[in-house]
Amino acid sequence: PLSDEQKQILKTTSPIFKENGKEITSIIYKHMFAAHPELLNIFNRTNQKNGTQPFALANTVYLAIENIDHLDTLLPQILLIAHKHRASTVQPEHYPIVGKYLIIAIDEFLGGMGDPSILSAWSAAYNIIASIFINIEKKMYSELGD
Ligand code: HEM
Repeated sequence: PLSDEQKQILKTTSPIFKENGKEITSIIYKHMFAAHPELLNIFNRTNQKNGTQPFALANTVYLAIENIDHLDTLLPQILLIAHKHRASTVQPEHYPIVGKYLIIAIDEFLGGMGDPSILSAWSAAYNIIASIFINIEKKMYSELGD
């Protein structure tokens, strides 16, 4: 769970992500695909081409951070994304990879000056959001028997 201090940090720093989400997400993809070219297969098939997905990722993380105390209100959106993830064969083990490069990208975007408490607050928030997706997608996979 997030501490009050972490929530405060997220509240004051989330605009960075909202305003520069597209740029930060491009940095995520640049490093992530260099280190994990196998993920290109998953992403290339879909709307990476027209550049909508990078923006969607940034927007959703921002939205989730803004609603971190009542994420259940985002359930309809989360389910919709989870279905798309499922269709793209996104797996639980992919989440820590995206999370790792999310934090690296934020730090790089901040010019390597990312305060450790800022980075760990974002990391903790990402983990909460990712675990919701992972649980819902696991349930979908098992219900659908694959
Ligand atoms: C699609 C957010 C994690 C791969 C999407 C979309 C959103 C999103 C909002 C929908 C775009 C649209 O409506 O067109 C997130 C968030 C994540 C996350 C918030 C973390 C908490 C991941 C991971 C992977 C992944 C770990 C795989 C490495 C994809 C792919 C699509 C997608 C391939 C395209 C699906 C399609 O449009 O058919 N994601 N995502 N995402 N995501 Fe994620």
